[in-house]
Amino acid sequence: MQTPNHDRLLIIDFGSQVTQLIARRLRELNVYCEIHPYQNVTATFIRDMAPRAVILSGGPDSVTRDGSPRAPDELFEMGLPVLGICYGQQVMMMQLGGMVETGHGTAEFGRAFVTPTTPGLDLLEGWFSDGDEQVWMSHGDHVSAIAPGFQVYGTSPNAPFAITADPARRFYAVQFHPEVHHTPGGARIYENFVRLAGFTGDWTMGAYRDVAIAKIRAQVGDKQVICGLSGGVDSSVAAVLIHEAIGDQLTCVFVDHGLLRQNEGRDVVTMFRDHYNMALIHAEEQEMFLGALEGQSDPETKRKIIGKLFIDVFQKVANGIEGAEFLAQGTLYPDVIESVSFSGGPSVTIKSHHNVGGLPEKMGLKLVEPLRELFKDEVRALGRELGLPASFIGRHPFPGPGLAIRCPGEITRAKLDILRQADAIYIDQIRKHGLYDEIWQAFVVILPVRTVGVMGDGRTYDFACALRAVNSVDGMTADYYPFTHEFLGETATRIINEVKGINRVTYDITSKPPGTIEWE
Ligand code: XMP
Repeated sequence: MQTPNHDRLLIIDFGSQVTQLIARRLRELNVYCEIHPYQNVTATFIRDMAPRAVILSGGPDSVTRDGSPRAPDELFEMGLPVLGICYGQQVMMMQLGGMVETGHGTAEFGRAFVTPTTPGLDLLEGWFSDGDEQVWMSHGDHVSAIAPGFQVYGTSPNAPFAITADPARRFYAVQFHPEVHHTPGGARIYENFVRLAGFTGDWTMGAYRDVAIAKIRAQVGDKQVICGLSGGVDSSVAAVLIHEAIGDQLTCVFVDHGLLRQNEGRDVVTMFRDHYNMALIHAEEQEMFLGALEGQSDPETKRKIIGKLFIDVFQKVANGIEGAEFLAQGTLYPDVIESVSFSGGPSVTIKSHHNVGGLPEKMGLKLVEPLRELFKDEVRALGRELGLPASFIGRHPFPGPGLAIRCPGEITRAKLDILRQADAIYIDQIRKHGLYDEIWQAFVVILPVRTVGVMGDGRTYDFACALRAVNSVDGMTADYYPFTHEFLGETATRIINEVKGINRVTYDITSKPPGTIEWE
């Protein structure tokens, strides 16, 4: 297994939308866990992984359906503590001799309150001190008879078996989702579970850093590694970590496609070349990218052109590096979790995201992915551990295709210049008001329309722009940020006064869905 020095917890994924949140809650408790889809989890798999405990996630199926997902029967004979959540609870009941039924008006979606029945369950330490506990329910089926050995510890109006357990075998089953914020005491359940399972909380960033460095050294040996540096948090942290591990054997490549924000190229180069003393190739390819994009206005065409040229440039630069055998990528854990597909159908491509996918095979490179086990905020914690400045770690995400997708319609150098200036003012405003760290991502979009205005005594006919700011946990969904009218008014005035070429400012109040964060 990947981290032999740490206690491990196995999460068997039955396809719930919120399985990743279980992992989040556990990582917050310094517990190392891995999510694996139920299809892959056999008894042998569990024995090989040797987890200290197992959690069965929720899921969309019905355990009453023939052929619906199950855990391996042997799991319940291994002497491991098991916590079943929602569908996972029902799986436990079915496999251990209880009964589950569908419907009959007992479906529950949303907030519910659980009342204690029997006191003294170790899993519930700290619960019910102020009466009933609020929980989040989301189930169509319900347990109608609990398995032998189990006892009821909490009930809700529609779930008489909301919390059941067989404490002697350390089997626990809850109908609700303790991992979501709508179950305010949920973190406590996980805390109790890992404590009673004997976890020591040994998953810290300091420990991770040492293990990761040792692993990189063992994998790379004396070979050369190249790393595409975008200036974003993930690739920056990956680069600094690898640099700590192998020093001069790492060469970073920063591709400037002419679609960066103001001073972005300068900042990245200064930081990594001058501050960290890394071998850094600054590929200035503005002409090539902007030339190829000339006259193109279709969003997908723009993305594809940029993606292809990026790979061409990267490949050209990398070919010039003697003995390069590895390519480093800042892949994160959410990108590698194999999701459980119940529909079996292909999902719709909303946008073709830009990355260096396909490159390693083409170039015969092996991958170094030191962040594969981490969530975004853990990457930030690792960045802090490695001494990256806070201003770098807290940066808003910036998409690979850069300003190209913030310039709907045709891209011109003039428009890019205007966009850069407006964007710099907007970000400056956000910083000045102390809002930067409260916002997931903020940027300006230059619109492909000119509007009439009046400035002084004269008529203007300039571009309109839109300000965008959203809050999000993972970029998958997002809410627009509720700036005050004063902030918006002041920012609009500054942009119109200071940027020649913009005479109208709008604020985008679309959430995702139905909008996406970027405009293209
Ligand atoms: P959307 O626009 O799809 O964006 O709601 C979600 C998040 O992804 C970022 N984004 C990208 N990041 N390459 C990237 O590295 C891309 O091609 C790309 N497109 C969108 C976007 O900025 C937001 O954070």
